[in-house]
Amino acid sequence: MPTRSHGLPKGPWGDSLHALNDYALMQIGRPSRTAYGTAFRRACHQLHDAPPLVFSDPIAVPILGAEALPELQAAKKDLGSPANIALRAFLVARSRYTEDLLAQAVAQGVTQYVLLGAGLDTFAHRNPYPELRVFEVDHPATQQWKRELLAAGNLPAPANLTYAPVDFECQSLPEQLAAAGFDAARPSFFAWLGVVPYLTLPAFRATVSFVAAQPAGSGIVFDYAQPRHALSPQEQLAHDSLAARVAQAGEPFQLFFTPSEAACELEDFRAIEDLGAYELNLRYFANRTDQLQLRGSAARILSAWL
Ligand SMILES: C[S@@+](CC[C@H](N)C(=O)[O-])C[C@H]1O[C@@H](n2cnc3c(N)ncnc32)[C@H](O)[C@@H]1O
Repeated sequence: MPTRSHGLPKGPWGDSLHALNDYALMQIGRPSRTAYGTAFRRACHQLHDAPPLVFSDPIAVPILGAEALPELQAAKKDLGSPANIALRAFLVARSRYTEDLLAQAVAQGVTQYVLLGAGLDTFAHRNPYPELRVFEVDHPATQQWKRELLAAGNLPAPANLTYAPVDFECQSLPEQLAAAGFDAARPSFFAWLGVVPYLTLPAFRATVSFVAAQPAGSGIVFDYAQPRHALSPQEQLAHDSLAARVAQAGEPFQLFFTPSEAACELEDFRAIEDLGAYELNLRYFANRTDQLQLRGSAARILSAWL
């Protein structure tokens, strides 16, 4: 697969990083292109960023398959642009933050981890917690594609991983999870990374309500995007460019929150932590020898507990 001049991977279905009509593709039964783009950036982090890695993932490269290797190697020359650095930093930060919180949750007795919109997340294949059951929820088309990639890469599903195909827009998350063996009587930790901006508000709220009904000790982490009016003039330009391409694709990103709006959606939760670039850079990117760090205020990561 050739690398585009802007350094974004094409992936199996074309320009995979834009992902502007991702939901449209899934509507017609094709897997998520954003999932590939996100996984590609995590793999680039393993191969090309200076140690120490912010997010160490030995499966990040193998899951993409041998045919992705030339593209991963070629991507090195494009990784240093400010936009690429900031996006890659955000993606590895949100995975690192999530798995840091998961470790805390497990230490406090959580035994179920639910990845909502799992994409090509590899945690299930690195799970260091023998008692932790993992449920991967994703759009059926994306999940099927992931399973084919894993099979092709000789990466068998671990015994404590269960797949639960769900379209958040039109299927019942509680029903599908219950059918997969999820025990709603036990506290669980939910990761919902890179998904919320693609959802409608009703679909977002339905999932939040389901998580809010879980037992005390349960938690959730998700990232979200701020609306245009909350951005600086420079960020608004980037937002407008993105919005135009979204409109052209006919499937806009649908959901934005300010931090106070996000907090309002979580009134049943406690201990909300909402982190932007400044806090994440302090926590995960201090004293690096390379340029890897987050920029801007468009994207944030939030966690909340019951
Ligand atoms: C950007 S990818 C993120 C994947 C993964 N969480 C990660 O961080 O690598 C977005 C994911 O959201 C999923 N997704 C988007 N809309 C969805 C929907 N309506 N129902 C189920 N999954 C959806 C896609 O299938 C894809 O796996």
